[in-house]
Amino acid sequence: MSAEVLLEVEHLSIAFPTETGLARTVEDVSFVLHAGETLGIVGESGSGKSMTAMAIMGILPKSAIVTGSIRLRGRELLGLSDDELREVRGRRIAIVFQDALAALNPVMTVGDQLVEAVRVHRPDLSAAEHRARAVELLALVGIPSPEQRMARYPHEFSGGMRQRVMIGMSIANEPELLIADEATTALDVTVQAQILDVLREVQARTGTTVMLITHDLGVVAGSADRVLVMYSGGVVESAPVEPIFYDTAHPYTAGLLASLPRLDRRSRDERLFQIPGQPPLPTAWPAGCRFAPRCRHAIAGRCDVAVPAAVEVGAGHTAACVRIGEWQEEAR
Ligand SMILES: Nc1ncnc2c1ncn2[C@@H]1O[C@H](COP(=O)(O)OP(=O)(O)O)[C@@H](O)[C@H]1O
Ligand code: SF4
Ligand SMILES: [Mg+2]
Repeated sequence: MSAEVLLEVEHLSIAFPTETGLARTVEDVSFVLHAGETLGIVGESGSGKSMTAMAIMGILPKSAIVTGSIRLRGRELLGLSDDELREVRGRRIAIVFQDALAALNPVMTVGDQLVEAVRVHRPDLSAAEHRARAVELLALVGIPSPEQRMARYPHEFSGGMRQRVMIGMSIANEPELLIADEATTALDVTVQAQILDVLREVQARTGTTVMLITHDLGVVAGSADRVLVMYSGGVVESAPVEPIFYDTAHPYTAGLLASLPRLDRRSRDERLFQIPGQPPLPTAWPAGCRFAPRCRHAIAGRCDVAVPAAVEVGAGHTAACVRIGEWQEEAR
């Protein structure tokens, strides 16, 4: 893996003023993304994953109160003008969302949309070259008979095929960073695996850096080099992918792992484990560890005092829990 730093996020916090008080959606998030790697960001719905992605893309709602720093190759992105942001967004960072149908234009052929994306990026090329590149992109994302498919409309494609098109469009401008935000969530398991393969293939061929955002720890298992686990707007664990699964250091990560479907589960009656309770409201975070109200290892007087600091527990592995070591003993 290249050691070159592509993106540095430091002490990023995002809040919104609401009628019931300040809604804190991201709080003091820091991480580094190296060029060419795949970073998985995992956490339940509402944990601040999309907010983090939107901050990096510069597409947060205007009412957001943002502090901290986001640097792309050393250049600060927070505070850039709309024009400057548009340039960064279009050229260097791309995002693929869950809903490809909504993102594609229903009355334009897939080919015309791809050609347009290529043209905007490379106005210097001829129309024939734009078309050739568009076909090439469709082939790269695994669309069979790409020449013929160019003339088709989005509704003539399956969900998986549309998501492939979206990935093709997002890499038309050869971004340095590709953010896939729940890009496989709406798809069935088989198609999901195919789309993850496409992302891996794209990365192998283009060398782009990938941020893979998902609520499903299973999705990052075979794809990510490193994983950030987010809970209630904060990073609770960060590690290379293997220690996340085999040397879990945070009770929340352990809860996510326990709720993964497993092939060796004995019978269908064995219900999937679910972490009990709900994350706290963004306007009413508890003092101390925000996972405490749901954590079976929580101890009054220790877990509810201050937000636990990230502690290094292994090589490149940190966790924000005051009972590391103790909780694993209890869980045995
Ligand atoms: N415009 C907004 N104003 C206030 N709060 C918001 C707004 N949009 C989202 N939120 C809140 O921000 C939190 C984080 O949301 P999000 O980043 O979308 O989570 P995730 O992508 O991890 O599911 C959630 O609690 C959500 O309710
Ligand atoms: S700090 Fe306490 S409440 Fe939070 S995860 Fe660790 S043991 Fe659980
Ligand atoms: Mg989201």
